[in-house]
Amino acid sequence: MSSVRSLFPEPTVIPVVTIGDPAAAVELASALANGGLHCIEITLRVAGALESARAIRDALPDITLGIGTVTDAVQLAQAIDVGADFAVSPGFDETLIVAASEIPYLPAICTPSELMHAVSIGVDAVKVFPAAAYGGPGLLRQLAAVFPKAAFCPTGGIRAAELPDYLAAPNVLAVGGSWLAPAETVAAGDWDAIESLAQQAVAVCRQAN
Ligand code: 3PG
Repeated sequence: MSSVRSLFPEPTVIPVVTIGDPAAAVELASALANGGLHCIEITLRVAGALESARAIRDALPDITLGIGTVTDAVQLAQAIDVGADFAVSPGFDETLIVAASEIPYLPAICTPSELMHAVSIGVDAVKVFPAAAYGGPGLLRQLAAVFPKAAFCPTGGIRAAELPDYLAAPNVLAVGGSWLAPAETVAAGDWDAIESLAQQAVAVCRQAN
């Protein structure tokens, strides 16, 4: 398994997007990039998600493209096939970690036991999900105190106003969330609003860094 660390050299934000319309997906990724966020995670939760990811890959080759909600080996293979830069799971499954030799892979944890298991098999970066429900930045601080070599990508229930607190937690690689692409804004095709949300997030990251 290769690490996602090199993809995120400075603490940043990963827009987590559930979208099944490839044309809209390209518009969305373009709007995020125009706002300064050159990364997107497409979750495999709706029909058309893979096609959307492929359209982004083809139209915007420089975007750091993640495939999320990967829950089995078939989906992991689909992420590799689509040319994704990284894959993300909502949970921890050692067989997926072993299978992810061809793509940077982010398993998720939310307990010390899961993190202990992950670290013991060489994982150096994890998604922390669902981060808000399990304690938010306080959870990250406590995990980092015990596992100082692990890097975290907190996701789940995070709002824009909380971004500074998450970025201030130790060892945060990236903060993931859907607040950057609200479903109603995407449905309305309000790409200017998406660009503005991205700009705001980038500004917060710059301040934090
Ligand atoms: C995910 O993997 O879907 C993220 O955790 C998104 O969570 P959010 O919609 O609460 O930001």
